[in-house]
Amino acid sequence: MATPIIIDCDPGHDDVFAIWLAAAHPAIQLLAITTVAGNGRIEHTTFNARVACTVAGIQGVPIARGADGPIAGALRPADWIHGANALGGPELPEPTVPLDERDAVTLMADLLSDSPVPVTLVPTGPLTNIAHLVQAHPELLGKIERVVWMGGSTTRGNVTPYAEFNAYTDPEAIAIVLDSGVDFTMVGLNISHQALITREVRDRVRAVGTRTAAFGHELLEFFCSTYEVAEQMPDGPLHDPITVALIADPAVATTVRTRIDVELTGTETRGATSTDLIDILKRPANATVAMDLDVDRFWSMIVDAVAALD
Ligand code: BDR
Ligand code: CA
Repeated sequence: MATPIIIDCDPGHDDVFAIWLAAAHPAIQLLAITTVAGNGRIEHTTFNARVACTVAGIQGVPIARGADGPIAGALRPADWIHGANALGGPELPEPTVPLDERDAVTLMADLLSDSPVPVTLVPTGPLTNIAHLVQAHPELLGKIERVVWMGGSTTRGNVTPYAEFNAYTDPEAIAIVLDSGVDFTMVGLNISHQALITREVRDRVRAVGTRTAAFGHELLEFFCSTYEVAEQMPDGPLHDPITVALIADPAVATTVRTRIDVELTGTETRGATSTDLIDILKRPANATVAMDLDVDRFWSMIVDAVAALD
């Protein structure tokens, strides 16, 4: 049976590929897409989620708008990577798929309540909506199969030396989600920087030859151009779809059980995900962490997904 998931995202170039992989992969049942402020303001990320579905011909998947900012502090969109509209590069078509009338938390709660089996939540942005969900609906925790999040890192950061963008944007949300006791997987920069969008990868996507492929290729070119300037990485990392790939095909990455705590108060390290891979703190494990990516397998999944869409 396909795994039912909800993607909670802030598109964002790599979020778009997460949506596409989820919609196209036969092992995944994409129940809904919810949006959060992160890479861009909520107006942009919500518009862009609808664009992602419109371009690829994804219909019948409800899209609901979520939080317009983190639990504490002000939003700082990642315009240096994703552009002023969070989806720089291609011309964006007017979306033809509707916006659900419900807010993100209400839509997620409705779907969890109605589902005969527990549902996997796949946040690929700040954890704000997921934190609001577990606080507002503790009675639904048993309906969450697990949370598979792109964010954090076992090593370096990308906003500060130690904090990754999604973690840095809303550290309080991470603490709330971890404290809820939900089954939690972190797909951090330590693995996403293995998914490098090489020239060969970009050529393979373009060669698919469809509308989705052309749009996706433009996204990848823009993304790599900003990564080259910002991080001296001309082959930028396609972070977000590793979450979906790991659910669809666990053989795509190795994982370890370990302890994660999030830094809330550090003057230099706020938003760092302290990941105790050597069990030095002797605290109980509270998370699974993705470690090593089967890079060829991953890119084949991405190219196959693009090829399966319009
Ligand atoms: C994460 O932040 C965003 O820029 C990407 O979409 C990804 O979710 C990487 O740090
Ligand atoms: Ca994202």
